[in-house]
Amino acid sequence: MILRVAILISGSGSNMVALAQSMRGDHPARPCLVLSNDPAASGLDKARDMGIATAAVDHRPYGLERAAFEAALLRPLLDAQPDLIALAGFMRVLTPEFVAQFEGRMLNIHPSLLPKYKGLNTHARAIEAGDTVAGCTVHEVTAALDDGPILGQAHVPVHPDDTAQTLAARVLPMEHRLYPAVLRRVAMGDRSLLTIS
Ligand code: GAR
Repeated sequence: MILRVAILISGSGSNMVALAQSMRGDHPARPCLVLSNDPAASGLDKARDMGIATAAVDHRPYGLERAAFEAALLRPLLDAQPDLIALAGFMRVLTPEFVAQFEGRMLNIHPSLLPKYKGLNTHARAIEAGDTVAGCTVHEVTAALDDGPILGQAHVPVHPDDTAQTLAARVLPMEHRLYPAVLRRVAMGDRSLLTIS
């Protein structure tokens, strides 16, 4: 059985592209939808260019009405009938109620070595702390932010002259290696920890 993967993005979608490009040939999954909370996200154009169905639900008109936003987000998502959901630079916090509907079926990539630096500004915080190693993590999404079981981590060195930008530029290519590798393993039923460096 070929698994259907919905990918949620907010911006440029480079992780989405890496995931979509990996789901070819003998891969046990295929992308079924790229969904964004920002109709202007450039990743949507990249998905269309790759022939993947897209949808956007602008979060802004909903303001603090998080449940209403998520109800709108749910419509195209459920229509696509995904087996797995991959958050790939999706920058909205999802409620526990939303996450619970996809328990064990939703993955996220986060640009830090979790459990360090949940939330935002991960690279600046790693530099500020004097860390000599940084990286990224793919984990299962649970109700708590950036907190679910860790499925994979990739490590990069932090250089003494790094800025948040230079460190991000070193981590991002590792994200593009790690996320497809973890997705493939999960699609094949393997949730053991993958570490790359
Ligand atoms: C990536 O670095 C991803 O790890 C990060 O946003 C970027 C999205 O880039 N995600 C988070 O910070 C989630 N909290 P992309 O749109 O080019 O994939």
